[in-house]
Amino acid sequence: MKKFAGILILILSIILLNSCSSVINKQKRSDQRTGVSFERPRPEGQTNVLKLTADPIPVVRVAFIGVGNRGYAAVRRYVNLEDVEILALCDLNGEMVKRSQQFLTGKNLPLADEYVGEDAWKEVCERDDIDLVYICTDWLSHTPIAVYAMEQGKHVAIEVPAATTIDECWQLVDTAEKTRRHCMMLENCCYDFFELNTLNMAQKGLFGEIVHGEGAYIHDLRSQLDSQRSWRTQFYEDYDGNPYPTHGFGPVCQVMNIHRGDKMNYLVSVSSDQFGITAYLKDKFGESSPEAAKNYEIGDMNTTIIKTEKGKTIMVQHDVTSPRPYSRLHTISGTKGFAQKYPVEGIALDPESHQFMAKEEYDQLMEEYKHPFIQEIGEVAKRVGGHGGMDFIMDYRLIYCLKNGLPLDQDVYDAAEWSSLVELSRISVQNGGTPVKIPDFTRGDWNQLKGLTFSY
Ligand SMILES: NC(=O)c1ccc[n+]([C@@H]2O[C@H](COP(=O)([O-])OP(=O)(O)OC[C@H]3O[C@@H](n4cnc5c(N)ncnc54)[C@H](O)[C@@H]3O)[C@@H](O)[C@H]2O)c1
Repeated sequence: MKKFAGILILILSIILLNSCSSVINKQKRSDQRTGVSFERPRPEGQTNVLKLTADPIPVVRVAFIGVGNRGYAAVRRYVNLEDVEILALCDLNGEMVKRSQQFLTGKNLPLADEYVGEDAWKEVCERDDIDLVYICTDWLSHTPIAVYAMEQGKHVAIEVPAATTIDECWQLVDTAEKTRRHCMMLENCCYDFFELNTLNMAQKGLFGEIVHGEGAYIHDLRSQLDSQRSWRTQFYEDYDGNPYPTHGFGPVCQVMNIHRGDKMNYLVSVSSDQFGITAYLKDKFGESSPEAAKNYEIGDMNTTIIKTEKGKTIMVQHDVTSPRPYSRLHTISGTKGFAQKYPVEGIALDPESHQFMAKEEYDQLMEEYKHPFIQEIGEVAKRVGGHGGMDFIMDYRLIYCLKNGLPLDQDVYDAAEWSSLVELSRISVQNGGTPVKIPDFTRGDWNQLKGLTFSY
């Protein structure tokens, strides 16, 4: 009997020791993940801006800063919106400003005031008759302009990515919280038709519990690698990671309720070496040309994987220098079904999930789950255009919410979270794919909202 009790105690001790060491190992693993902390305490007196509202603005007075390709296209769309006045156009280049005025004259609208020069945007932000500063400049100037505009009491809309460093992400969050101004990143892909309809399906439980999502920006932009070395090309010279993560990432974060019931904890990121830019420049300018001899740090393909607090995963890819068909992936995988936009649009639902459903069934489902934004403005948006209409749905929603004093569809935490990948992926890549902690930009309030909702 004594012998039996001794053996039992020995077995129990081994089990206990094993479970302790597994806890310790887990602890060690999580400590390794911790790495550098990018968290920042909330300054005293500041509160979060989740579901921020501001006074309704019956006619939204807009200033555009940066009217190159994207800003010019935005002015073209904005003249189609009701209850909007375009009061100022600003650019480094006076020609860019002048050519945008054509959209106002085309609609018999008064010309906007013109601002030209490196610091002219400050004067624009300082005006007391502007409600919304719409920023379409290069990546490095987004945050400085947005912060200054909010400090001058303006709401801001910023092209993607809103920020290129974690410090800039915090500047946006802190300034929005301090000034109580809206700060929306213009992630237009959140308004594309497939993304909106599948978001609606996910929110209604069609895919069950969403476990994994994938997004990407795979777009052959090699023809833009010219000898002028645009600001984008210059960025690639000493950066490796994902410099432009938000198009594929934003819609997936919305489906996965990031900072609305779940939060991103850490990421790992790995890049291939750079081959495509050099190969292309050799072909275009010659084997021994100065263009081809230039060094580019950015790898052709970057892959980043994120783990969330609730145990879900997200994969984000970036490749703009390979001869490949366009793709943002937009893959949603849940316990009851699956949706994918690229390379082939399809939906598969349990128990028939070994293959995509037939086209007829798919079309019926898309109709049944047509997102309210598309029902309301989809047809007009297709006519006005802008990436097939999604840009105009975004414009319409932004102005609608400002006019009615409603929370915006995307808040400053979305802007910070989605943009934070620019620096965090770089850090992981530079450290051999080491896990890097993703800061909680809501500072503990990520579970306050239960799911993503839009205001009407
Ligand atoms: N959401 C989308 O689908 C989409 C598509 C294209 C570009 N973008 C984004 O739009 C932004 C602009 O891209 P783009 O292709 O139009 O670039 P671009 O170079 O054509 O235009 C940028 C413009 O900003 C101006 N500018 C730069 N600094 C300025 C300053 N200090 N004051 C005033 N004007 C200034 C430049 O003179 C230029 O005309 C980028 O952030 C880009 O990532 C988004």
